[in-house]
Amino acid sequence: MITLYIVSTLFLIIVDNINMLVKNIFKLKNLKFSSLILLSACIENAPLDSLSPEGPYARSIDELFWLTFWIAVVIFVIVQGALLLSVFVFKEKPDSPEPKQIHGNTKLEILWTVIPVIILAVIAVPTVKTIFELANEPEDALKVEVIGHQWWFEYKYPDYDITTANVLVIPADKPIRLEMWSNDVLHNYWVPKLNGKRYLVPGQTTYLNLHADSPDEFWAQCGEYCGLSHSKMRGRVLSLSESDFEAWVKNQQQNANKLEGNSLAAEGQQVYLNAGCTQCHVIDGVWDVQGDRIAPNLTHFANRNVFAGAALYNTEENLSKWLANPAEIKPGTFMPNLELTEAEINALIAYLGTLK
Ligand code: CUA
Repeated sequence: MITLYIVSTLFLIIVDNINMLVKNIFKLKNLKFSSLILLSACIENAPLDSLSPEGPYARSIDELFWLTFWIAVVIFVIVQGALLLSVFVFKEKPDSPEPKQIHGNTKLEILWTVIPVIILAVIAVPTVKTIFELANEPEDALKVEVIGHQWWFEYKYPDYDITTANVLVIPADKPIRLEMWSNDVLHNYWVPKLNGKRYLVPGQTTYLNLHADSPDEFWAQCGEYCGLSHSKMRGRVLSLSESDFEAWVKNQQQNANKLEGNSLAAEGQQVYLNAGCTQCHVIDGVWDVQGDRIAPNLTHFANRNVFAGAALYNTEENLSKWLANPAEIKPGTFMPNLELTEAEINALIAYLGTLK
């Protein structure tokens, strides 16, 4: 009975999927959820794809995944093969005697207890080894602090006295040691192409190593539900060549210039100073006092290709939407709607564009 149940369930699942696939190919209106999941495996160039590692840490996790996957495939084929074989070979025929019963056979019981133990041991040895390797603090690693906020990541480089947000800039082909915590609720830092996930916990420091093979851009995503705009708590990791990274550090260490005169950007600076932005946003050299709530440091805002928790690309169009009504883009955001006029928004955008 149980065998019949399992086989018929499997059969139904397969038929249901084929049926829906055929339907979908000819009539896209009827696209169903299970087929969508199936088709999602076909996506190319997925920036959050954890199966295309671009560094040694992610690669060791990937190797572990494929080892376990292929062991599971072999077991699946053997078990399903035995199942189908017994269904067809031992099916009831007229006048056939009852097959030999093996219930309670001690030798068999021991055999199919020992085999899984050996399989699990084979998987456990490299798994435990990898866990320890991932946790080790690499030598000569660049230290970066990652602080989780609802809903963006802040980065501090204690060795260089740099504070930035949303885009983590690192040198390529060098180990990075992240020291992480949260300013409010649980968050989770995840750069799928560089390593696994790690929690950001209020009042506790956690660690994660990153290492990118070569200069490139990687996507990050908060991996723990942390409130209304959790899905928009994203990030970028930009790995640069050694000389580019040095140039980036030098530039980040510069303060912003205080603008004088009557240019549109200088007007925007006045809006920044007077409209309420300074309650939360620091611009080194222009307004250094952190207010009640920590918001991204804007000193080198124009240098970052994304903003608003990396939910938006840094374009004038997106900035104007964001400044007009932040909560429309990120529900629950702590950035208030300052009821800015269109002229004020345009001036602010001009000013933000100068913060390189
Ligand atoms: Cu932070 Cu989800």
